[in-house]
Amino acid sequence: MTGIQERILSLKHEKNAVILAHFYQTMDIQKIADHVGDSFELACRAQAADESTIILCGVRFMAESAKILNPDKKVLLPAPDAGCPMADMVTAEDIVRLKKQYPDAAVMCYVNSSADVKAECDICCTSSSAVKIARSLSEKRIIFVPDQNLGAYVASQVPDKEFILYQGFCPIHHHVSASDVTAAKTVHPEARVLIHPECRSEVVKLADYVGSTSGIIDYVKNSADREFIIGTEMGVVERLKRIAPEKNVYLLATRLVCPNMKKTRISDVLNSLENDVYEITLPEYAIKGAFKCLDRMVKVQ
Ligand code: 13P
Ligand code: SF4
Repeated sequence: MTGIQERILSLKHEKNAVILAHFYQTMDIQKIADHVGDSFELACRAQAADESTIILCGVRFMAESAKILNPDKKVLLPAPDAGCPMADMVTAEDIVRLKKQYPDAAVMCYVNSSADVKAECDICCTSSSAVKIARSLSEKRIIFVPDQNLGAYVASQVPDKEFILYQGFCPIHHHVSASDVTAAKTVHPEARVLIHPECRSEVVKLADYVGSTSGIIDYVKNSADREFIIGTEMGVVERLKRIAPEKNVYLLATRLVCPNMKKTRISDVLNSLENDVYEITLPEYAIKGAFKCLDRMVKVQ
């Protein structure tokens, strides 16, 4: 433990704060977090938090979700410019337009979206809950925003519904190709291929397992196999090397690095605790509207 990490741990108690971190955060941050999880787990943990302050080490939509689900708490995002480019690809106006165009459809949004967008949607989902949520809806038609790839994956798993897919994408996962998988399999022919559903369908089709960051980690932990090609951000590989050192894990492509997730440095976490920055504030209407959408997701589980 470094001096800065020790200082964070003692300040955290003093200030009655809980530190939540996504698996894409650097390992020094994962080590001082109270909970490390995928988007769904972080949202649930934030909703259940008793502590007066929640420090969300991740990107803005994750911190906003924490605030929406537990609005009486102070929610801090240590790196205020850590956004998600995919979340920025859709606006509330886009949703209003789509609802007019398809009035009979339910609107399902990926958690990687702004509070304003969520406030216009019927139900939210994460990569771990999307299929279950689509199946739970009574509507035959579903507008899915913003991730075209997660939407296409859900559509393939829920064939009795019609999906209208918004054309957003994650710039990190979307640029992985089927030939990356073929190349990795040539080097590691025995490895299982584990893919995040934000990847394109040509990549998803080559997977032995498709799931969220948590799903991928659990798959490696519980599998009798020893070698795995990981088709998601490098933070998952780093975590697996730490928690399952007996397994061999290989990152599918070296460019699987999310620059926004890497904006949070350990010094930002300390700054956040020392100076109560950067607080997430949202207008009342956005909190109320988005709460329905997020809370409905949590209750479907
Ligand atoms: P998970 O919910 O699977 O952790 O995904 C979050 C994310 O942003 C993936 O790019
Ligand atoms: Fe957004 Fe992609 Fe980064 Fe996830 S990996 S936070 S979807 S840009």
